[in-house]
Amino acid sequence: MNDIFILDACCSVKAMWYNKNHPNALYIDIRKEQSGFLGHGRKEELNPDYIMDFRKMSFADKSFKLVVFEPPHLRSLGKNSYFRKKFGCLVAETWQSDLQKGFAECWRVLDDYGVLVFKWSDNEIPFKEVLKLIPHDPLFQNTTNNKSTSVTKWFCFMKIPIRNQDR
Ligand SMILES: C[S@@+](CC[C@H](N)C(=O)[O-])C[C@H]1O[C@@H](n2cnc3c(N)ncnc32)[C@H](O)[C@@H]1O
Repeated sequence: MNDIFILDACCSVKAMWYNKNHPNALYIDIRKEQSGFLGHGRKEELNPDYIMDFRKMSFADKSFKLVVFEPPHLRSLGKNSYFRKKFGCLVAETWQSDLQKGFAECWRVLDDYGVLVFKWSDNEIPFKEVLKLIPHDPLFQNTTNNKSTSVTKWFCFMKIPIRNQDR
């Protein structure tokens, strides 16, 4: 079995990873920032294994068992905003089709019975608006009683193949 079976489709600074260089994972992002920049008092690098666009990935179908997809959530960040630098920004005119294409590519490169984890924060765009763009239902998500202005959720999808019912 191939040793690389986990894909992070837009890794940024890998803030969510316990092991930021997991031996079974491949990290991609549309950009690289190797000069390092200060984030919460420490030097951080945005250093994916490959610079690649999640809307058009160069991997074969069904290459990964687990895909994690956390695209930018915000569309109204200033040009020099720290958040834009670190986590990117949605393009106001195309964000819906960008996310649709990204999700479709994540699904294509996911193996049968593989798991896709989609992470979203509803600061600017509500969950239901984003889920409308995805042609599959999540199995589950984290629930929260958080009454704060924005919430982050993790949605878990599984690529369950459609079986031919003929016997
Ligand atoms: C919210 S951040 C991901 C945060 C990451 N999960 C972490 O733990 O640090 C979103 C990332 O998506 C990247 N991105 C935006 N558009 C992209 C695209 N079309 N293809 C690949 N990466 C993209 C941005 O450069 C940014 O680094």
